[in-house]
Amino acid sequence: MRRIIIQYGGTGDLAEKKLYPAYRNLMERGYEFELLALGRRFSSREEFLSSLAHGAPPSFLEHLHYLHYDMNGPDAVSHLASAIMALVKGASEVELIYYLALQPSLYEAAIGEIKAIDATLACHCTLKKKIIVEKPFGFDMESALRYNTILEQAFTDQEIYRVDHYLGKEFMQNLLLMRFHNDIIRRIWDNQTIESIQIIFDEEHGVDQRLGFYEQIGVVRDTIQNHILQIITFLTMAEPASISFEDIAIEKQKVLRSISPIEEFHMGRYESLGANSGRVITTPTYAAFKLFVNTYYFAGIPIYVRTGKMQKKAKSLIYIKFKNTTREVMHDESIAENGVIITIHPELTIDISMNLKVPNTSWKSKPVLFRFNQSETFGVNTPEAYEQIVEKILLSDKSLFPTMEEITESWRIVAPMLTDDAPVEVYPVRTLPRFTQAMAKENNFTWFA
Ligand code: BG6
Repeated sequence: MRRIIIQYGGTGDLAEKKLYPAYRNLMERGYEFELLALGRRFSSREEFLSSLAHGAPPSFLEHLHYLHYDMNGPDAVSHLASAIMALVKGASEVELIYYLALQPSLYEAAIGEIKAIDATLACHCTLKKKIIVEKPFGFDMESALRYNTILEQAFTDQEIYRVDHYLGKEFMQNLLLMRFHNDIIRRIWDNQTIESIQIIFDEEHGVDQRLGFYEQIGVVRDTIQNHILQIITFLTMAEPASISFEDIAIEKQKVLRSISPIEEFHMGRYESLGANSGRVITTPTYAAFKLFVNTYYFAGIPIYVRTGKMQKKAKSLIYIKFKNTTREVMHDESIAENGVIITIHPELTIDISMNLKVPNTSWKSKPVLFRFNQSETFGVNTPEAYEQIVEKILLSDKSLFPTMEEITESWRIVAPMLTDDAPVEVYPVRTLPRFTQAMAKENNFTWFA
């Protein structure tokens, strides 16, 4: 079978930084496909190739094609259809994979165009197709549903892959196994034992060259509606009937349906956002909020989240804090709580903290960490998230993709955070917005980092 990936946004940041390296690794691992990059930035393939990071081997470059392409151009459809046909080269079985790495505002036009291309292709072959859409899927619930209706006019749900690359991350998949393949964890993972959960995703970098994309999106659409809510589903879903995509999706959906629209939230924007653009940009780049998962096992556990850009240090972690009944029973305020700390960045580790005796003391305890370190245990060769995602697409395996129901529920949950009238605190770069501490004080907790 001849497989062609048609890369919309082929000269964009995502394609360059994440997708091309993933494609290249997959080719090196033996997957065969042609790659047609579409973009307006470069007028020729030579220019496009010379813009790519150096060192790509000829075995990859020979499968990388380029079409200078303007979706609004007069002959866009026939232009793209003939470029695809040139790659089909008379094959009798063909799979076309349309990968939309585009601004959500361009989705409607792109999907309409793909439908037209479908009708134009004169391929005397068995033709299979897939469409890949990036997050955020839509701007809000209404637009997501609208785009989906258009998508489903041209593709079956089985052919649609809605990407959230966090599902391709090792720590996410590990969360499920850690929870459901360990009886000791399963038994303590509920509101009898857990007091609160913190999710901290501080990024060091700013919006950088992605200003044009980001200013229309903001932190809620960029990471909260998708990555953060997906993490919450993995942390709190009940055990699925099996580790199959369908069974996991059922449980994730139950979690999302149990979460009310977020009412307690704060937004911030780093001071220098868009400083060189000559425009005033008010898009939020940082947010903190609290939510509850109102299921039988998790009701009452506050989940505190903070995430955003231009922080002093990149730091991503999840802190599960357990109740501390021991402190009361032992009448000893110095006894620390137990906790599980899942650190994602700078490196993947899982710590369980326990209190153990300090030598040469009379019953004095100290919290010590029992640590799992991904790279020490399994080596450093874990594939990047996008490589895992693209591989699943090639294998037609939908296990790492959120369903449309999940996406719709997620838009419902973040809806209050998308209103334009929410106040936005301007924070100096490399500092946390002040509301993070105010929120901690109000809710009587301390951020773990
Ligand atoms: C992307 C967002 O989806 O995720 C970026 O658009 C964000 O703004 C990134 O920085 C974080 O992903 P990762 O894989 O670097 O943790």
